[in-house]
Amino acid sequence: MTTTATVRVVTPLLLAVSLTALLAATDVVPSSTSPTTAAPSSPSINGTSSTDLGPLLAFKAQISDPLGVLASSWTTNVSICHWARVSCGHRRPRVTALELPDVPLQGELTSHLGNLSFLSVLDLTNTSLVGSIPASLGRLRRLRSLLLSENGLSGAIPPSIGNVNELELLNLGSNNLSEGIPPELMQNQGSLLMIALHVNDLSGHIPPNLFNNTPLMWFINLGNNSLSGPIPHSVASLPLLEYLNLRGNHLSGVVPSAAFNMSRLQGLVLTQNSWSLTLSINSNKNNLTGPIPANGSFNLPMGNTFSFSGNNFAGRIPVGLSACPYLQTLSISYNYFVDVVPTWLAQLAYLDELFLGGNYLNGSIPAVFGNLTSLTSLDLSSNNLAGEIPAELGLLENLTYLHLTSNQLTGPIPSSLGNLSQRLDLHANKLFGPIPDSIGNLSELENIILSNNQLNSGIPVSLFQLGKLIQLNLSHNSFAGTLPNDLSGLKQADTIDLSSNVLLGSIPESFELTSLTTLDLSSNDISGTIPKFLANLTYLTALNLSYNRLEGQIPEGGVFSNITSESLIGNAALCGASKLGFSPCLQKSHSNSRLLKFLILAVTIAFVSALICIFLMIRRRHKNNIDASGQTPGDVMNHTVVTYHDLVRATDNFSNDNPLGVGSFRKVFKGQLSTVLDMQLEEATRSFDAECHALRMARHRNLIKVLNTCSNMDFKALVLQYMPNGSLEMPLHSDSRGHLGFHQRLDIIIDVSMAMEYLHHGHYEVVLHCDLKPSNVLFDENMTAHVADFGIAKLLLGDCNSMISASMPGTLGYMAPEYGSLGKASRKSDVFSFGIMLLEVFTAKRPKDPMFVGERSIRQWVHQAYPSKLSSVLDNRLLQDATSSTCELNYFLSPIFELGLLCTCDSPDQRMRMSNVVVTLKKMKNSYAKST
Ligand SMILES: *[C@@H]1O[C@H](CO)[C@@H](O)[C@H](O)[C@H]1NC(C)=O
Ligand SMILES: *[C@@H]1O[C@H](CO)[C@@H](O)[C@H](O)[C@H]1NC(C)=O
Ligand SMILES: *[C@@H]1O[C@H](CO)[C@@H](O)[C@H](O)[C@H]1NC(C)=O
Ligand SMILES: *[C@@H]1O[C@H](CO)[C@@H](O)[C@H](O)[C@H]1NC(C)=O
Ligand SMILES: *[C@@H]1O[C@H](CO)[C@@H](O)[C@H](O)[C@H]1NC(C)=O
Ligand SMILES: *[C@@H]1O[C@H](CO)[C@@H](O)[C@H](O)[C@H]1NC(C)=O
Repeated sequence: MTTTATVRVVTPLLLAVSLTALLAATDVVPSSTSPTTAAPSSPSINGTSSTDLGPLLAFKAQISDPLGVLASSWTTNVSICHWARVSCGHRRPRVTALELPDVPLQGELTSHLGNLSFLSVLDLTNTSLVGSIPASLGRLRRLRSLLLSENGLSGAIPPSIGNVNELELLNLGSNNLSEGIPPELMQNQGSLLMIALHVNDLSGHIPPNLFNNTPLMWFINLGNNSLSGPIPHSVASLPLLEYLNLRGNHLSGVVPSAAFNMSRLQGLVLTQNSWSLTLSINSNKNNLTGPIPANGSFNLPMGNTFSFSGNNFAGRIPVGLSACPYLQTLSISYNYFVDVVPTWLAQLAYLDELFLGGNYLNGSIPAVFGNLTSLTSLDLSSNNLAGEIPAELGLLENLTYLHLTSNQLTGPIPSSLGNLSQRLDLHANKLFGPIPDSIGNLSELENIILSNNQLNSGIPVSLFQLGKLIQLNLSHNSFAGTLPNDLSGLKQADTIDLSSNVLLGSIPESFELTSLTTLDLSSNDISGTIPKFLANLTYLTALNLSYNRLEGQIPEGGVFSNITSESLIGNAALCGASKLGFSPCLQKSHSNSRLLKFLILAVTIAFVSALICIFLMIRRRHKNNIDASGQTPGDVMNHTVVTYHDLVRATDNFSNDNPLGVGSFRKVFKGQLSTVLDMQLEEATRSFDAECHALRMARHRNLIKVLNTCSNMDFKALVLQYMPNGSLEMPLHSDSRGHLGFHQRLDIIIDVSMAMEYLHHGHYEVVLHCDLKPSNVLFDENMTAHVADFGIAKLLLGDCNSMISASMPGTLGYMAPEYGSLGKASRKSDVFSFGIMLLEVFTAKRPKDPMFVGERSIRQWVHQAYPSKLSSVLDNRLLQDATSSTCELNYFLSPIFELGLLCTCDSPDQRMRMSNVVVTLKKMKNSYAKST
């Protein structure tokens, strides 16, 4: 760092030297020390005697001078050489300098200024001038510095300025000047050192000969205009040029290769009051093309800031840059560079800012970047980078800004990430694992954006204590756990987005986030009521709470006065806000509160009196204990779930007309619930809910939805989405409704595999099924397969193993050997059941078919036919469909049966993972689709 600082100091010094030289050359002496030939006390005559009095009075007359800077001293009874901000030459009372920088003058420039024929310095920087630049300034043949920047001057640049042939510094930047740069501007400007026309509205081409006669030029800033066309070649032939800024124009064409061969070029830009080092050969808005010379001709040894961003440069990142030892800032973002991230960048010891985003960089982030100890900003976003974020980035102690978004990065977030204070942006990658606790130490950090990854575990509590944090976006990950009770550490937070995770718990009852404008907690599993204080957060204008388990009254006022139903839907038990279509909050029925406790379902379901299917799991059913109120004496339910009473009514007292299916430890009934809403929710005891949590959180297209639960000591029920088209048993083993074709069966198996993959790998906790079989695969109205009964063994019996004692003869055929004999349930035992089911689907033979006796199991039967006689085990109905020869058919069938065999290996270790099963099946489907 010390060397960097030195570089930064040296250049302003050089500049100061140049400026001193300039000032000395102009024969200007500051007025305070200026000996003047005019008699100081001479009352009136001295002022009028000068030919310059008239022009100065004319200048004063056209401005309003609100601070009165001129009013007191610019009076005719004092010599003009004593007027404030006016300097005269040694020999005559002629004005050589008029310097009023930062004085608000507010007015137009008079053309009489052109009469100050001895004027050498005219500095009216930042004086609120408007109107046009008088053409008469072209008559000031002795003018060396014309400094009119940071005003509101408009109109065209007068071509007559080209006549001022001793001009050295011309700064007209930051005005509203328009039209083209006049070609005459620098025809006689052999002395010009600096031209700054930046931040105006100049248009047209840069005159090709503009820099032909300016051999001393060392500073050019034409940035932020509307200039178009090519960069004149003459720019590159200026032997002393040190600074060139053409950024923010509409320039196009190929950059003259000589531009990359300016040995003195190092770059200077005037920002505020200090000279800093920035070189922008070109930047955003331009449309420059062609490769930057990759080798050899790239010769900018003094360069310390190169900005080529936002153009169409292509090819590889020029290795010539490695010969720029003083390089501090390199910005080549948003071009078409195709390359790996060069490791030679790690040799640039002063590199401070590195912006390579928006190119086609591939490979991984080099670990040697850990050598760039001066680096404060690193942007590699929007490339094709893969691999992990190297832990070595943690060595970058000065890094404040890390932007790696929109790549293919995987793996965990390294636990050490320097001193980030501005931005940590890793969104849209494939990162997984937890957020390292150490991120909570980055107390200066302002932005954390980790959305759209596969990050999981709880969110470190320390993250909510980052007092400087403005934006926190953790959406679209798999973060679990509860929201912290106290968010008030995020004092500066403007935006908090935690949507689409699996967060639990309730919204904290209060937090003093007075700056908060946006809060998105949608698509989580957040419960409880919506705290009323959210309506008190003055700046909160965007609130999204949809798809959670919130209940009770929707508050009024504040953000809720403009909220739309989209921000609240998907919460089964909200009420109030009737204009949004929510039902009114009913008063609690006080007369006999024991009598009625009613189901709250999603509003849509509630109002159509949905047909729902009720699974009843009854271990010990004491019907006789039901008292007149419809509740069992042991009923300890205080929370709002379906009551036994409701179910009794809905299923016509569990009438045998209604069962949909019977298992050894459960019965399935179809029922119609009439629903009434009771919004006076009592404090919930959530023991059963907690157990059900995994099930209710499991949301997948191919899983049956758990809508609600009902439980007491003796009785447990799950209310499930109704599946009108029955189970897979029916089409597989009965001929009555036609049969499933090969592709349909493959689709069903894929659907089931995706549901199982989700339970095993995609959910925030592993859910074992323990009882996968065709009767647990149900079809909705579109014949999409949904897996039912998942996780039920754990829910009801504590774990899968208890199921063995409650085992049913019909299910044994699907049980993995180690599960049946040793009681070892695992993901791999589910894979076994899946494999058996797959074999059943394509053979239409139940694993307990009478033909499978003794040593002969369905697996062995298929195995002995594999691979050449598979047509002999295929479901006969599929065989009849087949048009191909037996030989082709066996070839066709072998991948699917092979998968079934692989899933049903005796050894759990040899069975595939569910995630690999899905991949294999999808590939298979593609190749089948191509071959038919
Ligand atoms: C400036 O010079 C022009 C002619 O060169 C003259 O007409 C004008 O009056 C002069 N202005 C002042 C204020 O002397
Ligand atoms: C311009 O002048 C005003 C005072 O009139 C001052 O406050 C402001 O900082 C100046 N702007 C710059 C960029 O120096
Ligand atoms: C930029 O340049 C390319 C190639 O010369 C051209 O195809 C494209 O239209 C240009 N884009 C704009 C915005 O001028
Ligand atoms: C990184 O630093 C180490 C130790 O200072 C040095 O040996 C190595 O050559 C450096 N790597 C690069 C690419 O500069
Ligand atoms: C909201 O603000 C009002 C008025 O300032 C106050 O009375 C009320 O207690 C606040 N409510 C909450 C929940 O903070
Ligand atoms: C509601 O919207 C109106 C109109 O868009 C706006 O003026 C008002 O400030 C908003 N109120 C709140 C609390 O956001």
